[in-house]
Amino acid sequence: MVNDLEGLFSTNAKRMKKSVIRELLKLTRRPEIISFAGGLPDPNAFPIDEVSEIVDVVLKREGKTALQYSPTEGDPKLKDELIAYHERENGVKLTPDNIVVTVASQQALDLVGKCFIDPGSPVIVGRPTYIGGLSAFNNYGANMIGVPLDEGGMRMDLLEVELRKLRDAGQRPKFIYVIPDFQNPAGLTMGEERRLELIELARKYDVLIVEDSPYRELRYAGESVKTIYALEGTGQVVGLHTFSKILFPGMRLGWVIGDEAVIQKLVVAKQATDLCTPAFTQAIVAEFMSRGLLGKVIENVKGIYSDKRAVMLDALDEHMPKMPGLAWTKPEGGLFLWVTLPESMNADELFYDAIEHNVAFVIGSAFDCTGLQTNTMRLNFSFPTKEEIGEGVKRLASVIEEYAKKNGGRKDIVATP
Ligand SMILES: Cc1ncc(COP(=O)(O)O)c(C=O)c1O
Repeated sequence: MVNDLEGLFSTNAKRMKKSVIRELLKLTRRPEIISFAGGLPDPNAFPIDEVSEIVDVVLKREGKTALQYSPTEGDPKLKDELIAYHERENGVKLTPDNIVVTVASQQALDLVGKCFIDPGSPVIVGRPTYIGGLSAFNNYGANMIGVPLDEGGMRMDLLEVELRKLRDAGQRPKFIYVIPDFQNPAGLTMGEERRLELIELARKYDVLIVEDSPYRELRYAGESVKTIYALEGTGQVVGLHTFSKILFPGMRLGWVIGDEAVIQKLVVAKQATDLCTPAFTQAIVAEFMSRGLLGKVIENVKGIYSDKRAVMLDALDEHMPKMPGLAWTKPEGGLFLWVTLPESMNADELFYDAIEHNVAFVIGSAFDCTGLQTNTMRLNFSFPTKEEIGEGVKRLASVIEEYAKKNGGRKDIVATP
Protein backbone atom coordinates (compact mmCIF):
# COMPACT_ATOMS: atom_id res chain seq x y z
CA MET A 1 0.00 0.00 0.00
CA VAL A 2 1.18 3.54 -0.71
CA ASN A 3 2.16 5.85 2.11
CA ASP A 4 -0.25 8.62 2.97
CA LEU A 5 -3.23 7.37 1.01
CA GLU A 6 -5.25 10.24 2.49
CA GLY A 7 -2.90 12.69 0.80
CA LEU A 8 -3.74 11.13 -2.55
CA PHE A 9 -7.49 11.42 -2.23
CA SER A 10 -9.03 14.28 -4.19
CA THR A 11 -10.68 17.22 -2.46
CA ASN A 12 -14.01 15.81 -3.61
CA ALA A 13 -13.24 12.38 -2.20
CA LYS A 14 -12.19 13.89 1.12
CA ARG A 15 -15.54 15.65 1.28
CA MET A 16 -17.52 12.43 0.84
CA LYS A 17 -19.24 11.14 3.94
CA LYS A 18 -20.69 7.72 4.61
CA SER A 19 -24.48 7.73 4.43
CA VAL A 20 -25.86 7.97 7.96
CA ILE A 21 -28.84 5.90 6.90
CA ARG A 22 -26.69 3.06 5.62
CA GLU A 23 -24.71 3.06 8.87
CA LEU A 24 -27.87 3.05 10.97
CA LEU A 25 -29.46 0.37 8.81
CA LYS A 26 -26.65 -1.97 9.80
CA LEU A 27 -27.95 -1.77 13.38
CA THR A 28 -31.49 -2.54 12.29
CA ARG A 29 -30.77 -5.83 10.55
CA ARG A 30 -31.40 -8.12 13.56
CA PRO A 31 -34.39 -10.29 12.64
CA GLU A 32 -36.29 -9.39 15.82
CA ILE A 33 -36.24 -5.70 14.88
CA ILE A 34 -39.30 -4.26 13.15
CA SER A 35 -37.81 -1.68 10.86
CA PHE A 36 -39.53 1.49 9.67
CA ALA A 37 -36.07 2.70 8.71
CA GLY A 38 -35.54 1.58 5.12
CA GLY A 39 -37.28 2.96 2.08
CA LEU A 40 -37.71 -0.33 0.28
CA PRO A 41 -40.65 -1.22 -1.92
CA ASP A 42 -42.67 -4.32 -0.95
CA PRO A 43 -41.03 -7.18 -2.91
CA ASN A 44 -44.34 -9.08 -2.91
CA ALA A 45 -45.50 -6.58 -5.51
CA PHE A 46 -42.64 -7.26 -7.95
CA PRO A 47 -44.04 -8.73 -11.22
CA ILE A 48 -41.55 -11.60 -11.28
CA ASP A 49 -43.43 -13.95 -13.64
CA GLU A 50 -44.06 -11.27 -16.23
CA VAL A 51 -40.42 -10.12 -16.12
CA SER A 52 -39.21 -13.68 -16.42
CA GLU A 53 -41.23 -14.20 -19.61
CA ILE A 54 -40.14 -10.87 -21.05
CA VAL A 55 -36.47 -11.62 -20.39
CA ASP A 56 -36.83 -14.70 -22.60
CA VAL A 57 -38.63 -12.79 -25.34
CA VAL A 58 -36.05 -9.98 -25.34
CA LEU A 59 -33.11 -12.36 -25.47
CA LYS A 60 -34.55 -14.41 -28.30
CA ARG A 61 -35.82 -11.45 -30.31
CA GLU A 62 -33.08 -8.88 -29.84
CA GLY A 63 -30.33 -10.55 -27.78
CA LYS A 64 -27.57 -9.18 -29.99
CA THR A 65 -28.49 -5.58 -29.29
CA ALA A 66 -29.78 -6.11 -25.75
CA LEU A 67 -26.40 -7.50 -24.66
CA GLN A 68 -24.42 -4.87 -26.55
CA TYR A 69 -23.31 -1.33 -25.62
CA SER A 70 -26.03 1.19 -26.40
CA PRO A 71 -26.46 4.97 -26.85
CA THR A 72 -25.64 7.06 -23.76
CA GLU A 73 -28.90 8.97 -24.25
CA GLY A 74 -30.90 5.77 -23.75
CA ASP A 75 -32.64 3.06 -25.75
CA PRO A 76 -34.85 4.70 -28.43
CA LYS A 77 -37.70 2.23 -27.80
CA LEU A 78 -37.76 2.95 -24.09
CA LYS A 79 -37.62 6.67 -24.82
CA ASP A 80 -40.65 6.35 -27.10
CA GLU A 81 -42.52 4.61 -24.29
CA LEU A 82 -41.49 7.36 -21.87
CA ILE A 83 -42.60 10.09 -24.28
CA ALA A 84 -46.03 8.45 -24.57
CA TYR A 85 -46.14 8.00 -20.78
CA HIS A 86 -45.44 11.68 -20.06
CA GLU A 87 -47.99 12.83 -22.62
CA ARG A 88 -50.66 10.52 -21.18
CA GLU A 89 -49.94 10.96 -17.47
CA ASN A 90 -48.59 14.49 -17.18
CA GLY A 91 -49.78 16.24 -20.33
CA VAL A 92 -46.18 16.98 -21.26
CA LYS A 93 -44.93 16.76 -24.84
CA LEU A 94 -41.33 15.61 -25.10
CA THR A 95 -38.98 14.66 -27.92
CA PRO A 96 -36.18 12.10 -27.58
CA ASP A 97 -33.77 15.05 -27.14
CA ASN A 98 -35.55 15.99 -23.90
CA ILE A 99 -34.73 12.65 -22.22
CA VAL A 100 -31.70 10.81 -20.93
CA VAL A 101 -32.14 7.36 -19.41
CA THR A 102 -30.08 6.95 -16.24
CA VAL A 103 -29.04 4.27 -13.78
CA ALA A 104 -32.02 5.35 -11.66
CA SER A 105 -32.50 8.72 -9.99
CA GLN A 106 -29.48 8.54 -7.74
CA GLN A 107 -27.28 8.68 -10.82
CA ALA A 108 -29.34 11.58 -12.10
CA LEU A 109 -28.72 13.48 -8.85
CA ASP A 110 -25.00 12.80 -9.18
CA LEU A 111 -24.95 13.95 -12.82
CA VAL A 112 -26.85 17.11 -11.92
CA GLY A 113 -24.24 17.76 -9.21
CA LYS A 114 -21.40 17.06 -11.63
CA CYS A 115 -22.78 19.40 -14.29
CA PHE A 116 -23.82 22.34 -12.13
CA ILE A 117 -21.94 22.46 -8.84
CA ASP A 118 -18.53 24.02 -8.25
CA PRO A 119 -17.03 23.96 -4.76
CA GLY A 120 -18.97 26.55 -2.75
CA SER A 121 -21.85 26.86 -5.25
CA PRO A 122 -25.09 27.73 -3.49
CA VAL A 123 -27.81 25.10 -3.90
CA ILE A 124 -31.23 25.44 -2.31
CA VAL A 125 -32.76 22.40 -0.63
CA GLY A 126 -35.71 21.73 1.66
CA ARG A 127 -35.28 21.28 5.39
CA PRO A 128 -35.64 18.33 5.52
CA THR A 129 -34.85 16.75 2.16
CA TYR A 130 -33.75 13.43 0.67
CA ILE A 131 -30.40 12.42 2.14
CA GLY A 132 -29.19 10.98 -1.17
CA GLY A 133 -29.65 14.40 -2.76
CA LEU A 134 -27.66 16.00 0.04
CA SER A 135 -24.83 13.45 -0.39
CA ALA A 136 -24.74 13.84 -4.17
CA PHE A 137 -24.53 17.65 -3.97
CA ASN A 138 -22.16 17.60 -0.99
CA ASN A 139 -19.71 15.45 -2.95
CA TYR A 140 -19.27 18.31 -5.42
CA GLY A 141 -18.82 20.86 -2.64
CA ALA A 142 -22.23 22.53 -2.74
CA ASN A 143 -22.99 25.20 -0.19
CA MET A 144 -26.38 23.84 0.86
CA ILE A 145 -28.93 26.44 1.84
CA GLY A 146 -31.87 24.89 3.66
CA VAL A 147 -35.38 26.31 3.41
CA PRO A 148 -37.88 24.98 5.98
CA LEU A 149 -41.08 23.22 4.94
CA ASP A 150 -44.59 23.62 6.25
CA GLU A 151 -47.51 21.29 5.53
CA GLY A 152 -47.54 22.57 1.92
CA GLY A 153 -43.85 21.82 1.25
CA MET A 154 -41.00 24.32 0.86
CA ARG A 155 -41.96 27.74 2.26
CA MET A 156 -41.90 30.30 -0.50
CA ASP A 157 -41.59 33.32 1.79
CA LEU A 158 -38.40 31.89 3.28
CA LEU A 159 -37.17 30.79 -0.13
CA GLU A 160 -37.45 34.37 -1.36
CA VAL A 161 -35.52 35.61 1.70
CA GLU A 162 -32.65 33.27 0.78
CA LEU A 163 -32.78 34.15 -2.92
CA ARG A 164 -32.69 37.84 -2.10
CA LYS A 165 -29.80 37.40 0.34
CA LEU A 166 -27.81 35.55 -2.30
CA ARG A 167 -28.55 38.15 -4.95
CA ASP A 168 -27.52 40.95 -2.60
CA ALA A 169 -24.25 39.07 -2.06
CA GLY A 170 -23.76 38.86 -5.84
CA GLN A 171 -24.45 35.12 -5.92
CA ARG A 172 -26.83 33.02 -8.00
CA PRO A 173 -27.87 29.60 -6.71
CA LYS A 174 -27.34 26.78 -9.17
CA PHE A 175 -30.77 25.25 -8.59
CA ILE A 176 -33.63 24.72 -6.18
CA TYR A 177 -34.03 21.02 -5.34
CA VAL A 178 -37.60 19.95 -4.54
CA ILE A 179 -39.52 16.69 -4.20
CA PRO A 180 -43.04 18.06 -4.63
CA ASP A 181 -45.05 14.82 -4.44
CA PHE A 182 -45.09 12.94 -1.11
CA GLN A 183 -41.66 14.20 -0.26
CA ASN A 184 -38.98 11.92 1.12
CA PRO A 185 -38.69 12.18 4.10
CA ALA A 186 -41.70 14.21 5.24
CA GLY A 187 -44.47 12.79 3.02
CA LEU A 188 -45.63 16.32 2.16
CA THR A 189 -47.03 17.49 -1.18
CA MET A 190 -46.85 20.95 -2.72
CA GLY A 191 -50.21 22.19 -4.02
CA GLU A 192 -50.53 23.82 -7.44
CA GLU A 193 -50.47 27.34 -6.05
CA ARG A 194 -47.18 26.67 -4.22
CA ARG A 195 -45.70 25.16 -7.37
CA LEU A 196 -46.70 28.25 -9.36
CA GLU A 197 -45.13 30.52 -6.72
CA LEU A 198 -41.95 28.47 -6.94
CA ILE A 199 -41.88 28.87 -10.72
CA GLU A 200 -42.41 32.61 -10.36
CA LEU A 201 -39.51 32.91 -7.93
CA ALA A 202 -37.27 30.72 -10.06
CA ARG A 203 -37.99 33.00 -13.02
CA LYS A 204 -37.55 36.18 -11.03
CA TYR A 205 -34.14 35.07 -9.75
CA ASP A 206 -33.25 33.10 -12.90
CA VAL A 207 -32.59 29.77 -11.23
CA LEU A 208 -33.17 26.19 -12.39
CA ILE A 209 -35.60 23.97 -10.52
CA VAL A 210 -34.69 20.30 -10.03
CA GLU A 211 -37.95 18.39 -9.53
CA ASP A 212 -37.35 14.90 -8.16
CA SER A 213 -40.46 12.72 -8.56
CA PRO A 214 -39.94 9.10 -7.53
CA TYR A 215 -43.28 8.81 -5.71
CA ARG A 216 -45.59 10.88 -7.88
CA GLU A 217 -47.59 7.94 -9.25
CA LEU A 218 -48.22 6.50 -5.76
CA ARG A 219 -51.18 8.64 -4.69
CA TYR A 220 -53.72 7.07 -2.32
CA ALA A 221 -55.83 10.09 -1.41
CA GLY A 222 -56.61 13.59 -2.67
CA GLU A 223 -56.28 15.07 -6.13
CA SER A 224 -53.21 14.84 -8.34
CA VAL A 225 -51.32 18.10 -8.86
CA LYS A 226 -49.58 18.93 -12.16
CA THR A 227 -45.83 18.49 -12.19
CA ILE A 228 -43.73 21.64 -11.87
CA TYR A 229 -42.25 20.65 -15.23
CA ALA A 230 -45.71 20.70 -16.84
CA LEU A 231 -46.72 23.95 -15.15
CA GLU A 232 -43.49 25.72 -16.10
CA GLY A 233 -43.31 24.65 -19.71
CA THR A 234 -40.23 26.60 -20.90
CA GLY A 235 -37.40 24.30 -19.86
CA GLN A 236 -36.43 25.89 -16.56
CA VAL A 237 -37.18 22.62 -14.76
CA VAL A 238 -35.10 19.44 -14.78
CA GLY A 239 -37.37 16.48 -13.97
CA LEU A 240 -36.01 13.32 -12.34
CA HIS A 241 -38.01 10.10 -12.63
CA THR A 242 -37.39 6.48 -11.72
CA PHE A 243 -38.86 3.01 -11.98
CA SER A 244 -37.56 2.17 -8.49
CA LYS A 245 -40.73 2.79 -6.52
CA ILE A 246 -43.37 2.23 -9.20
CA LEU A 247 -41.94 -1.02 -10.62
CA PHE A 248 -38.77 -2.24 -8.89
CA PRO A 249 -35.36 -0.78 -7.96
CA GLY A 250 -33.29 -3.86 -8.89
CA MET A 251 -32.77 -2.90 -12.53
CA ARG A 252 -31.63 0.59 -11.50
CA LEU A 253 -33.51 2.44 -14.20
CA GLY A 254 -34.63 6.04 -14.27
CA TRP A 255 -34.76 9.01 -16.62
CA VAL A 256 -34.29 12.76 -16.66
CA ILE A 257 -36.42 15.16 -18.68
CA GLY A 258 -35.36 18.70 -19.48
CA ASP A 259 -34.34 21.27 -22.01
CA GLU A 260 -32.18 19.81 -24.79
CA ALA A 261 -29.15 21.82 -23.69
CA VAL A 262 -29.36 20.48 -20.14
CA ILE A 263 -29.89 16.90 -21.34
CA GLN A 264 -26.90 17.17 -23.70
CA LYS A 265 -24.66 18.22 -20.82
CA LEU A 266 -25.92 15.38 -18.62
CA VAL A 267 -25.25 12.96 -21.50
CA VAL A 268 -21.65 14.14 -21.83
CA ALA A 269 -21.17 13.78 -18.05
CA LYS A 270 -22.71 10.31 -18.16
CA GLN A 271 -20.37 9.19 -20.95
CA ALA A 272 -17.47 9.47 -18.52
CA THR A 273 -19.44 7.85 -15.73
CA ASP A 274 -20.67 4.60 -17.31
CA LEU A 275 -20.86 5.00 -21.13
CA CYS A 276 -24.49 3.93 -21.09
CA THR A 277 -27.32 2.56 -19.00
CA PRO A 278 -27.50 -1.23 -19.55
CA ALA A 279 -29.24 -2.00 -22.85
CA PHE A 280 -30.66 -5.22 -21.41
CA THR A 281 -32.65 -3.68 -18.57
CA GLN A 282 -33.89 -0.92 -20.86
CA ALA A 283 -35.12 -3.46 -23.42
CA ILE A 284 -36.94 -5.42 -20.69
CA VAL A 285 -38.69 -2.37 -19.28
CA ALA A 286 -39.54 -1.04 -22.77
CA GLU A 287 -41.24 -4.36 -23.55
CA PHE A 288 -42.95 -4.30 -20.15
CA MET A 289 -44.36 -0.85 -20.88
CA SER A 290 -45.35 -1.67 -24.45
CA ARG A 291 -47.49 -4.53 -23.12
CA GLY A 292 -49.37 -2.03 -20.95
CA LEU A 293 -48.19 -3.74 -17.76
CA LEU A 294 -46.74 -0.74 -15.92
CA GLY A 295 -50.14 0.77 -15.17
CA LYS A 296 -51.31 -2.56 -13.72
CA VAL A 297 -48.29 -2.84 -11.44
CA ILE A 298 -48.78 0.72 -10.24
CA GLU A 299 -52.46 0.06 -9.45
CA ASN A 300 -51.53 -3.05 -7.48
CA VAL A 301 -48.74 -1.30 -5.56
CA LYS A 302 -51.03 1.61 -4.74
CA GLY A 303 -53.58 -0.77 -3.24
CA ILE A 304 -50.96 -2.43 -1.04
CA TYR A 305 -49.34 0.80 0.18
CA SER A 306 -52.63 2.56 0.71
CA ASP A 307 -53.70 -0.23 3.11
CA LYS A 308 -50.36 -0.15 4.92
CA ARG A 309 -50.51 3.61 5.25
CA ALA A 310 -53.98 3.34 6.78
CA VAL A 311 -52.72 0.71 9.25
CA MET A 312 -49.83 2.94 10.28
CA LEU A 313 -52.00 6.03 10.71
CA ASP A 314 -54.58 4.08 12.75
CA ALA A 315 -51.85 2.54 14.92
CA LEU A 316 -50.30 5.95 15.56
CA ASP A 317 -53.69 7.36 16.56
CA GLU A 318 -54.30 4.43 18.87
CA HIS A 319 -50.93 3.98 20.53
CA MET A 320 -48.96 7.22 20.50
CA PRO A 321 -48.92 9.00 23.87
CA LYS A 322 -50.88 12.23 23.92
CA MET A 323 -48.34 14.94 24.52
CA PRO A 324 -48.03 18.51 23.31
CA GLY A 325 -45.65 18.80 20.37
CA LEU A 326 -45.96 15.17 19.24
CA ALA A 327 -47.43 15.07 15.73
CA TRP A 328 -47.07 13.26 12.43
CA THR A 329 -47.85 13.95 8.79
CA LYS A 330 -50.71 12.18 6.99
CA PRO A 331 -49.22 11.72 3.53
CA GLU A 332 -51.55 11.41 0.54
CA GLY A 333 -49.08 9.05 -1.12
CA GLY A 334 -45.51 7.79 -1.21
CA LEU A 335 -43.76 5.56 1.28
CA PHE A 336 -43.09 7.69 4.34
CA LEU A 337 -44.51 9.72 7.13
CA TRP A 338 -42.71 12.10 9.41
CA VAL A 339 -43.02 12.29 13.15
CA THR A 340 -42.22 15.48 15.03
CA LEU A 341 -41.44 15.07 18.71
CA PRO A 342 -41.62 17.79 21.33
CA GLU A 343 -38.68 20.12 20.75
CA SER A 344 -36.73 19.03 23.80
CA MET A 345 -36.79 15.39 22.72
CA ASN A 346 -33.87 14.04 20.79
CA ALA A 347 -34.63 11.40 18.18
CA ASP A 348 -30.90 10.65 17.74
CA GLU A 349 -30.88 9.47 21.37
CA LEU A 350 -34.26 7.82 21.15
CA PHE A 351 -33.04 5.76 18.19
CA TYR A 352 -30.84 3.64 20.47
CA ASP A 353 -33.72 3.13 22.96
CA ALA A 354 -35.87 2.04 20.03
CA ILE A 355 -33.26 -0.46 18.83
CA GLU A 356 -33.20 -1.94 22.35
CA HIS A 357 -36.95 -2.36 22.08
CA ASN A 358 -36.65 -3.94 18.63
CA VAL A 359 -38.07 -1.17 16.53
CA ALA A 360 -36.18 1.16 14.17
CA PHE A 361 -36.72 4.42 12.32
CA VAL A 362 -34.46 6.93 10.57
CA ILE A 363 -33.41 9.95 12.59
CA GLY A 364 -34.73 13.16 11.08
CA SER A 365 -31.41 14.97 11.50
CA ALA A 366 -29.98 12.82 8.68
CA PHE A 367 -32.25 14.69 6.27
CA ASP A 368 -31.37 18.14 7.53
CA CYS A 369 -28.54 19.95 5.73
CA THR A 370 -27.59 21.61 9.02
CA GLY A 371 -28.06 18.42 11.09
CA LEU A 372 -29.62 20.57 13.80
CA GLN A 373 -33.20 19.35 13.59
CA THR A 374 -33.00 16.50 16.10
CA ASN A 375 -36.64 16.10 17.18
CA THR A 376 -37.94 14.31 14.08
CA MET A 377 -38.03 10.82 12.64
CA ARG A 378 -39.02 9.19 9.34
CA LEU A 379 -41.22 6.10 9.31
CA ASN A 380 -41.56 3.86 6.25
CA PHE A 381 -44.76 1.91 5.72
CA SER A 382 -44.16 0.19 2.35
CA PHE A 383 -41.82 -2.61 3.45
CA PRO A 384 -43.04 -3.97 6.81
CA THR A 385 -46.15 -6.17 6.84
CA LYS A 386 -49.39 -4.78 8.27
CA GLU A 387 -48.91 -6.92 11.40
CA GLU A 388 -45.38 -5.56 11.82
CA ILE A 389 -46.63 -2.02 11.37
CA GLY A 390 -49.19 -2.44 14.16
CA GLU A 391 -46.71 -4.06 16.54
CA GLY A 392 -43.85 -1.72 15.60
CA VAL A 393 -45.89 1.41 16.24
CA LYS A 394 -46.93 0.00 19.63
CA ARG A 395 -43.24 -0.53 20.52
CA LEU A 396 -42.27 2.91 19.27
CA ALA A 397 -45.07 4.54 21.24
CA SER A 398 -43.89 2.90 24.46
CA VAL A 399 -40.27 3.92 23.76
CA ILE A 400 -41.43 7.53 23.38
CA GLU A 401 -43.48 7.30 26.56
CA GLU A 402 -40.55 5.82 28.50
CA TYR A 403 -38.24 8.53 27.19
CA ALA A 404 -40.74 11.16 28.29
CA LYS A 405 -40.83 9.62 31.78
CA LYS A 406 -37.03 9.45 32.01
CA ASN A 407 -36.96 13.13 31.15
CA GLY A 408 -39.96 13.76 33.37
CA GLY A 409 -38.65 17.03 34.71
CA ARG A 410 -39.13 18.60 31.29
CA LYS A 411 -42.63 19.97 31.20
CA ASP A 412 -43.16 19.88 27.46
CA ILE A 413 -42.61 16.14 27.12
CA VAL A 414 -44.73 14.90 29.99
CA ALA A 415 -47.42 12.63 28.61
CA THR A 416 -50.91 13.95 29.13
CA PRO A 417 -53.99 11.70 29.36
C1 LIG B 1 -36.39 11.65 -3.40
C2 LIG B 1 -35.56 10.53 -3.94
N1 LIG B 1 -34.79 10.76 -5.01
C3 LIG B 1 -34.03 9.80 -5.53
C4 LIG B 1 -34.00 8.53 -4.99
C5 LIG B 1 -33.11 7.51 -5.60
O1 LIG B 1 -33.82 6.44 -6.11
P1 LIG B 1 -33.31 5.51 -7.27
O2 LIG B 1 -31.86 5.76 -7.48
O3 LIG B 1 -33.57 4.12 -6.80
O4 LIG B 1 -34.12 5.87 -8.46
C6 LIG B 1 -34.79 8.24 -3.86
C7 LIG B 1 -34.74 6.92 -3.24
O5 LIG B 1 -35.31 6.64 -2.24
C8 LIG B 1 -35.59 9.28 -3.33
O6 LIG B 1 -36.38 9.09 -2.27
